[in-house]
Amino acid sequence: MSAVSSPEEAEKAAAAQRSLEFVRDGMVVGLGSGTTAKYVIEFLGARVRAGLRVQGIPTSKASAELARAQGIPLTGFDRVEATDVTIDGADEIGPGLVLIKGGGGALLHEKIVASSSRKLVIVADERKLVERLGKFPLPVEAIPFAAAPVRRKLEGMGGNPRLRLDPGGEPYVTDEGNWIFDCGFGPISDPASLAQALKSITGVVEHGLFLGLASVAVVAQTGGARLITA
Ligand code: A5P
Repeated sequence: MSAVSSPEEAEKAAAAQRSLEFVRDGMVVGLGSGTTAKYVIEFLGARVRAGLRVQGIPTSKASAELARAQGIPLTGFDRVEATDVTIDGADEIGPGLVLIKGGGGALLHEKIVASSSRKLVIVADERKLVERLGKFPLPVEAIPFAAAPVRRKLEGMGGNPRLRLDPGGEPYVTDEGNWIFDCGFGPISDPASLAQALKSITGVVEHGLFLGLASVAVVAQTGGARLITA
C-alpha cells in the first residue's frame, strides 16, 4: 500500500476511500490511471482480498499491472458491455463536471472506458476544481505519422502545441504507440466546440476534454471528502 506522505496524498487517499461507496459486490469496475486512481486500486484490492467480488477493466498498462498485483480479477469489453462504475482521476474539473484528463498520458483508454461506463466517478483533491477549463495543458493524442500536420493544425487553432517528451528527451509514447501534444488554448469558453474541432483533425486519435461523461466527483478537502454531482 502507498505511504500517505503529505496532506495532498492524504486528500487523494480520502477521496479514493470515499469513492468505493459506489462499488458493490458483483460489479464490473473501470480502474482509472494516475496518482489518485492508484489509491482506489489499492483500496479496492484490499476489499477484494477481504472477499468482495468484482472484476476490473483497467485504463492503462500501469493500472492493469497494479490491479493484478492487488489481486483484482480483470476483464474486457469483449466479455462485458459496460462497466457498472468507473473511478478515475482528473487534471481539471469545471462546472457541470466537464474535465481535462490525460496529464498521465492515459486519455485514450480512459475515454474508451469512461464512454462505456454506466457511471463515471471522478476522484480528486480540491485543487483540481476550476471555474473554467484551460489552465492545465490540454493533451491531444496523435498518430506519430501525422505529428507534423496535426501540430500545424493545432497551431492554426491557437493551441500552442508542445510535443510531450519522456525523461530521455524522446517523444513520450502512449500505451497505443501514439504521441501527445500538450496544448495551451487559454481559458476554454466553449469546450464542446473545441472538442469537435479537435476530433475533426485527421491524425488526432483523442483529446483530453471529457464532456458529459462524469456524473459525480468525490473531492477531497481538509478533514474528508464531498460529493459534487453533474
Ligand atoms: C491520466 O492520464 C490522467 O487522466 C489522470 O487521471 C489525471 O492526470 C489525474 O491524475 P492524478 O490523480 O495523478 O492527478
